[in-house]
Amino acid sequence: MTNAYAPYSHYTVGAAILCDDGKIYSGVNVENASYGLTNCAERTAIFKAVSEGAKHVSKIIIINGTKELSKPCGACRQVMSEFMGPEDTVFLANNTNDFKEYTFKEILPLAFSDKDMD
Ligand code: THU
Repeated sequence: MTNAYAPYSHYTVGAAILCDDGKIYSGVNVENASYGLTNCAERTAIFKAVSEGAKHVSKIIIINGTKELSKPCGACRQVMSEFMGPEDTVFLANNTNDFKEYTFKEILPLAFSDKDMD
């Protein structure tokens, strides 16, 4: 979160993920003057991991610079669903290190996946 690049929203986000390769990858939000090209912290972490060879995310924690617990956006939930299973763990945290634990299926019920195209 310290490295978040958020000069437009000033809303800083950090994510850390534990992957099947045993490694932890982190990510921050990276904003852009065009706004729409902003990359969220969760996707930054996942894209870093996949580009290093990881195939599965078993746990993710998301933290932001406010007192409100983090809530991953819809786009990030869909990207998470590509690499996480329904029982995998999602921790949503705030700037005082309070957090709540969820399963992935709790934060994205009825997820669309490749199985829907069989
Ligand atoms: N943001 C994230 O990094 N993750 C989310 O799931 C919610 C939104 C970022 C994107 C943008 O830089 C800022 O928060 C405000 O939307």
